[in-house]
Amino acid sequence: MSLDLQTIRSQFPALNETDDGLARVYLDNPAGTQVPRRVVDAMSRCMLSASANMGGHFRTSVAVGDIVADAQHAMADFLNAPSADEIIFGQNMTSLTFHVSRSIGRHFSAGDEIVLSRMDHDANVGPWVLLARDCGLSIRWLPFDTETFEFDLRELENLLNERTRLVCVCSASNLTGTVNDVRTICRMARDAGAWTYIDAVQSAPHMINDVQDFGCDFLVCSPYKFFGPHQGTLWGRREVLESLEPYKLRPAPDSIPWCFSPGTASHEGMAGTAAAVDYFAWVGETMAGGEGDRRQRVRAGMTAIAEYEQTLAQYLVRGLQSLPGITIHGITSAEAMSRRGPTVAFTHERYAPDDIARALAAENVFAWSGHNYAVEVAKSLGIYESGGAVRVGPVHYNTIDEVDRLFEALDSVLG
Ligand SMILES: Cc1ncc(COP(=O)(O)O)c(C=O)c1O
Repeated sequence: MSLDLQTIRSQFPALNETDDGLARVYLDNPAGTQVPRRVVDAMSRCMLSASANMGGHFRTSVAVGDIVADAQHAMADFLNAPSADEIIFGQNMTSLTFHVSRSIGRHFSAGDEIVLSRMDHDANVGPWVLLARDCGLSIRWLPFDTETFEFDLRELENLLNERTRLVCVCSASNLTGTVNDVRTICRMARDAGAWTYIDAVQSAPHMINDVQDFGCDFLVCSPYKFFGPHQGTLWGRREVLESLEPYKLRPAPDSIPWCFSPGTASHEGMAGTAAAVDYFAWVGETMAGGEGDRRQRVRAGMTAIAEYEQTLAQYLVRGLQSLPGITIHGITSAEAMSRRGPTVAFTHERYAPDDIARALAAENVFAWSGHNYAVEVAKSLGIYESGGAVRVGPVHYNTIDEVDRLFEALDSVLG
């Protein structure tokens, strides 16, 4: 079965917006996606009829408790987590990572080593660099090959030793679009006795992220990148989370997950997150023959989405390759296409990335330019000082016609 794009698109009111009669082409998705109506409805229901704090005896408080529990179950289903109380909500991935990194660091001693990757967004780099500074840890850098845009895992093997405590790596790059072999990375780290902290922000909208299959210890993602509201979520392996000392206020709960959520949470954000997961289940059920519980239906939906997005990625990459003067900073070889997502970064031999993004915006084609916080990636590629790259990232609601709109716009921009 394949995705019914018309029905998919009808779920997202923003996709009908036009400006001066010109439809919007949202290719800015790696920075944040549009939301289906059900997400907005769930959030407004929560705010209109369940606005209270958790833990009281009265109706609205009880209703909030139900909403929160449902959101935790939804995220556990989304990530195939063993249990819902391993799910922690926060404002976004960055603040969750800063916060939990402090607790993780209490397990480490001066001279211990952590592995950071040059393929990661700064949110999975900066918090650890600061932790290393504060705790006297040594950082070992895992580079990626700037020709293949992939890690050579023999280099990881060389970095791991009995002092390695943590390996931080993304499941997919927010600039090159590379998808990593997280399973193997986690196995290698585990064999060395290290924990793994996986940034799944960019893989979450595109593919199944199964924490049990990955064998990771932590996994973070951001619902606003997968059709939900501005919110962050962290999954941690129960025994690891329970071994950490939380930075919490004295009256706050002592047990997971709430010991890691300081202050009052965004209940409406959680309601929206659950609705985003339900959206994937709906895709699975209505368009991919998904049956059974929510986990199974989400899995079916994600599989169908990933399949469709491979077609989009191929079309986008081949089309960009055919335009003169363009360099794609990411996987293009047919044999390796399955190891990339649809996020594509490119530069032009004459035009600056920001000028291209501005010209595309004038054609109502939305794209980002710059390093997109992938500081180490842009530096490794030698494009940090020259304005980074133009980044376009279709998701499953985008069509081939929209990718053609990009090509037409580029044709007229680049002359
Ligand atoms: C790969 C990756 N990691 C982390 C982040 C930061 O996410 P958040 O905005 O939820 O802090 C982003 C945001 O673009 C990202 O693309």
